[in-house]
Amino acid sequence: MSGEPMKKKRRLSGFGMIASTDELYEQRCSLPIYPARSKLVNEIRKTSSVIVIGETGSGKTTQIPQYVSEAGLVKNAMIACTQPRRVAAITVAQRVAMEMNVELGKEVGYCVRFDDMTSAQTKIKYMTDGMLLREALLDPLLLRYNMVILDEAHERTIHTDVLFGIVKDAQKKRKDGVHHPLKIVVMSATMDVDHFSRYFNNCNVLYLEGRQYPIEIFYCNQPQSDYLFSAVVSIFQIHQEEPPGHDILVFLTGQEEIEAVVKSVRDIAQDLSTDYPRLFVCPMYAALPPSQQLKIFQPTPQGARKVIIATNIAETSVTIQGIKHVIDTGKVKARSYRAGSGLDILKVQWLSKAQAWQRTGRSGREDSGTCWRLYTEEEFEALPDNTIPEIQRCNLASVVLQLLALGIPNILEFDFIDKPSSEAIIGALDQLHLLSAVEKTDQIQLTPFGKRMVMFPLEPQFSRILLMAKEYSCLEEVLTIVSMLSVESVLHTPHSKRENALAARKKFESSDGDFIMLLNIYKAYRAVKGNKEWCFENFINGRHMQTALDVRQQLHGMCLKARLTIQSCGQNTSAIRKCMTSGLFMNSAELQRDGEYLTLDRRQSVYIHPSSCLFQCKPAYVLYSELVHTSKCYMRNLCVVDPEWLYEAAPTYFKRRYSKNT
Ligand code: CDP
Ligand code: MG
Repeated sequence: MSGEPMKKKRRLSGFGMIASTDELYEQRCSLPIYPARSKLVNEIRKTSSVIVIGETGSGKTTQIPQYVSEAGLVKNAMIACTQPRRVAAITVAQRVAMEMNVELGKEVGYCVRFDDMTSAQTKIKYMTDGMLLREALLDPLLLRYNMVILDEAHERTIHTDVLFGIVKDAQKKRKDGVHHPLKIVVMSATMDVDHFSRYFNNCNVLYLEGRQYPIEIFYCNQPQSDYLFSAVVSIFQIHQEEPPGHDILVFLTGQEEIEAVVKSVRDIAQDLSTDYPRLFVCPMYAALPPSQQLKIFQPTPQGARKVIIATNIAETSVTIQGIKHVIDTGKVKARSYRAGSGLDILKVQWLSKAQAWQRTGRSGREDSGTCWRLYTEEEFEALPDNTIPEIQRCNLASVVLQLLALGIPNILEFDFIDKPSSEAIIGALDQLHLLSAVEKTDQIQLTPFGKRMVMFPLEPQFSRILLMAKEYSCLEEVLTIVSMLSVESVLHTPHSKRENALAARKKFESSDGDFIMLLNIYKAYRAVKGNKEWCFENFINGRHMQTALDVRQQLHGMCLKARLTIQSCGQNTSAIRKCMTSGLFMNSAELQRDGEYLTLDRRQSVYIHPSSCLFQCKPAYVLYSELVHTSKCYMRNLCVVDPEWLYEAAPTYFKRRYSKNT
């Protein structure tokens, strides 16, 4: 029967848990989406586009591709299912391979930046939205797929937003009778359905019946000045009052504060009387090693309680069972952008009402639940209804470069579901012009240099660095630095052993800054062949190092393909720093007489991040790889530079800035 989940016999062992195929089959059949499967398959069969709305955990991501494949709708092509997050693409593919009892990478695979787990047999491909966008560069009609599922549409990431336009255009062009048709499925937990339906030619919307039990919501009486402290207090208040087995999910904004709160909660729990249930504290964020991420899915032992402290990854991307209480700090870390400066800043900010409801809904899935909002009802009322799409608050340089590479010359006329401001688009074009990627004749077009930049899956400034390395004979070195900057930090600084970690790091440090330090770490790691003990003793995250090596190998391959010669400049760190300046000159800051730094473009006040090896130093001019806004605006990953190098890298830019600032 069409859409019937397939049943195979064999025992499977996952990470520490054993689930038989029978059990998996039963789990599949008990999902809220299961009763709707024939209706879904029929709808997808008869129309070209459909929107599916259903609560997190109802089974959209894992089941719909399987139903479609079981119903024989895939034929000789593939289904792409996009995810805004890498972790989601990987874990969902693992889960689906397990449910289908196939090896990951065969019929079911995933593809994320620098990690492709697919093969010629792959029919269901989970991928990040960014990867599908890259594929569109080579194949704008997406002919390898006969269905594209744009998942987590409500997240409105910049890549998903661009994909809406590209997929819609590909579908229209493939209605020519020559090509096989393309089906589009847009999936989401909550969203402005009418807006989406209108955009996709008034397509139908299917609502899945979710399970939702009543949820009691508590607000604070007064605004909270320290949401981390309030979160810890709330955890113990619930812990002391509620029976064991009622798990707690806490929403925070990032790795550092999560680790800090995990530590406080563990410390306090140790001193608690044994009358209270045992407390299992699990952090959850994207950079956490996969084995530790899986801990949150393991059932809580009898008589104990689990507390999961997560980023907004737990809002919709992953489903956790057993949650009875949600603590919502009301905060989220998001990119924001100031048009004009062209820079993205990662900043902790208030969430939207839609996100707050999504968090609330994480309790009350299996029984009634509670949600503790660590803000007042007035503060809630003042929140915006929906999150502003990323495309309207991010630097567009990378996306504009890709759209130009796709042959879309008039970006302002591209069929965006929500248009970014023309100021932002012009700003991006301006930046690309400074990076010598575009030229403005009667029409805006990519330069030959710009076309080569598109070959690398990197932000344009980093692609430029690789391409400019020839001039400084240092591709060997900048390849390493760019790879190290493309992965999560390789520095492991546990709270309890901070001093030891900093002492161990001393030998890698450089007065030239973090870029050179990263290079030193890489060389030392290679010299000991990635020895685990060495990593442990030196507080280096071996897993992230391994990823950096892997990324480097792939970028190395791309450089060879681009016919670049891999040369080394030896100990000449000036050559390396000059080369880095050629791409990152827009990320520069100058020391002021009062000992503070101002960025060169917008004269914005910035500080050296405590994780930098230059934290105690005051070089006159620095480059940085990114700005992070927590209590202050911090520059991360610094490099000492000469002001002349900045000027040489972009004379017109600095001339213009200089005349503006004086
Ligand atoms: O996409 P949606 O949020 O509707 O649900 P899903 O991701 O397809 O998840 C459906 C169910 O599959 C969840 O409730 C989990 O029980 C299970 N699942 C899992 O065990 N491990 C995963 N990595 C993903 C899903
Ligand atoms: Mg999903």
